[in-house]
Parts: sequence; C-alpha cells; structure tokens
Amino acid sequence: MDWTQRPVISATGLFTPPETITNEELVASFNAFVERHNAAHADAIAAGEVAALEPSSVEFIEKASGIKARHVVDKASVLDPDTMCPRLPERGNDELSIMAEIGVTAARQALETAGRDPADVDAVLCAASNMQRPYPAMAIEIQHALGIDGFGFDMNVACSSATFGIQTAADYVRAGNARSVLVVSPEITSGHLNWRDRDSHFIFGDVATAVLVEDAAMAPESHWEILGTKLKTVFSNNIRNNFGFLNRAHPESIGGADKLFVQEGRKVFKEVVPMVAAMIVEEAERLGIDPQTLRRLWLHQANAGMNRLIAQRVLGHEASADESPTVLDTYANTSSAGSIIAFHKHSADLVAGDAGLICSFGAGYSAGTVFVRKVA
Ligand code: COA
Repeated sequence: MDWTQRPVISATGLFTPPETITNEELVASFNAFVERHNAAHADAIAAGEVAALEPSSVEFIEKASGIKARHVVDKASVLDPDTMCPRLPERGNDELSIMAEIGVTAARQALETAGRDPADVDAVLCAASNMQRPYPAMAIEIQHALGIDGFGFDMNVACSSATFGIQTAADYVRAGNARSVLVVSPEITSGHLNWRDRDSHFIFGDVATAVLVEDAAMAPESHWEILGTKLKTVFSNNIRNNFGFLNRAHPESIGGADKLFVQEGRKVFKEVVPMVAAMIVEEAERLGIDPQTLRRLWLHQANAGMNRLIAQRVLGHEASADESPTVLDTYANTSSAGSIIAFHKHSADLVAGDAGLICSFGAGYSAGTVFVRKVA
C-alpha cells in the first residue's frame, strides 16, 4: 500500500443526447394528453366522480424551475401523448447496453482529455440514480468496453451518486488501493419521470458524465486538487420511487405512479436548502477555507431558486452566473450528473490557485461536497 497517494480530478467527460425537447413542445404534448383524458372521462368528470386534469404551462415551468429545455434519448416516444415515456428497443446480450454506451462515450472523453491509456485505469464506478438492470453491473460492462483491467461496481445515491462516487474513488486513491478511477454517471432520467404528472413532468433530462480521479503523481499537469470531500444522508420520503424487483409479486401495481419519481417539491425546497448551505459552510471551515473566497460553485442542477439561495448563504451575497453557473436552462435536472456538467462546461477559465466547490443534493436525502483547487 502506498499511503502517500493524493487524489485529484484529472479530467471530465460529457455525453449529451442530440435530441432536445423545449418547454413549448413538452407542454403541447402534455396538454394534448390532458384534453384527451378529460374528453374520455367527460361523463365521470361531469358527475364529479373523476377530477379533470389541469393543463401545464411554459411560463410556470420556467418561473418555478429555470428549466427551458432538456435533452432526451427518445424524443418521439416521450412527446407522443399515447406513450409519454422512452421506448428504447431492447438490445441483445451481446450488444452494448444503452446506459453503458452513453457512459463509455463520456468516459472516453475524460480519458482522452487526461491523455490516459485505459490500461492504466484501475477501477470503474457507475454512479447513477437508476440502473438499467441489477447485474452484471453497468460498471463492469463499461470497464469491459473500455478495456480496463481492474474492478468495477455500481452505486446509487440518487442525485448525489456522482459526488459519493468521487469520494469513494478518492478514498481508493488515498488508501493506495487504486491510482486511477473512473466515476461514470449515465443518467437516463426520462425513464423514471412520470411525463403525465403536471407537478413534475418538466423536471428531468438525459445525459452522461465521467470524472477521472487519480493519484496526483500520475495526473496530467493541469488538474484539480481535491481539497476535501464530505457526504451526508438524512432519511426522507419527500423524494421517492417505489420501483423495484419485488414489485413483480403485485403485477397490478407495476404501472402505479409511485413506481416512478414522486416528490413533495415544496418540502424538498424548504428542507434541503438550509441543510446543504450549512453543510458547505461547516465543511469549508473544517478545511480552513473562507467560503466567500470560493471562485465558483458548481451546484446540483435541480432548481434555479434553490441554487440562488444556497449560493447566497455560502458566498454572503447574490451569486452572479459566473460564480454559480447554471445548465438547468438547456439540460434540466440530470440527477447526479448536473453539478458535473456545470463543472465540465464552466471550469476551463479558472486559473491556478482558484478554489471551487462541486456540490450535489437530492433524494435520500443525500448531499455531497467536493472542494477543489486548480493546479497549473
Ligand atoms: N403548470 C402550471 N401550473 C402548475 C404546474 C404546471 N406544470 N405544476 C404546478 N402548478 C401550479 C400548482 O397547481 C400550484 O397552483 P396553486 O397555487 O393554485 O395550488 C402552483 O403552480 C404552485 O405549485 P407548487 O408545486 O407549489 O410549485 P413550486 O413553486 O414549489 O415549484 C418545483 C415546483 C417542483 C419546481 C419546486 O418545488 C422545486 O423545484 N422543488 C425542489 C425540487 C427538487 O430539487 N427536487 C429534487 C429532485 S431530484
């Protein structure tokens, strides 16, 4: 064991599905579904036996969330009012599965940016809020596709999967059990979103990210020192998804709305903002960092209002787009990948010595902080 290893972020990668859905397209599809539903149940609605569904609105979505569009892996099926979910053709066992495919694309970009030969990577963590199947692990399929000799496993901590993955990778490096670890987060969130639910149909989008965590001694000259990581979980039912392999015992309930993403959005907002702001400030203090000196916050991308409040509490003033960049407008909430997309797209301009924070929060509740400093 080499106890002198220091973990750094060598590079990141991003795969963005080419298709996008604008709020206008999304609302047109949702409202067509509502009209059809209300027409089909007109008598029951008139008799007061069934509640009429309410239409959605572009203005509400943008104002409540900051989301203007989202990328998806299957636009046509999501927008079809008769389908309203991704319909991806099943692939044979000898073909790369879609989660692995998009994860591999993001991972290759990270490896190329770092100039890293896959033969020198020791481990792959597939850290995401949904896995396509229980086993073999998505991480092992990604490892195999990339030609990595080592080990891989899946981990799910919902929206905090990527930061939990980064700490896990950093701990392997610190402990001397690995020198180079890929944390891959393929998030096909369109599959767990209830596109027929007015309160949440606008929230999510699809993407894949990758973070290469390595021993500083092998990292490329330009990299990000990991100053410290902190994880926190507090049980809450306010974001929940009851889908699972035991549901097959109750086939009639498999299609139930609770087998998809469900949330009490207001409660999440109220409870998570103070929890995360306090966690960031405490961790900064522990690391001897004045939070007001942080050059940039790459926050979880769920809601623009939440990020505004958290950034204000951490920085002590209203954050500019430069201090707390958003990708919500074009990507929506991509679960654990959100803060990594923000970091990937908005970090190249920082200079040596600049410190910043990657931070996630979401279901569990779960939250993770990764304080970083640019080196060279
Ligand atoms: N179109 C139009 N109106 C809508 C609507 C839609 N799609 N969805 C809800 N509304 C209406 C509601 O009916 C309600 O109307 P009322 O005041 O007449 O009752 C009003 O808008 C406010 O609804 P509410 O759900 O309280 O909105 P909100 O301001 O809390 O915003 C969220 C909703 C989900 C965007 C917000 O709560 C949020 O982002 N929370 C945190 C989410 C989060 O981070 N989740 C983690 C996911 S991993």
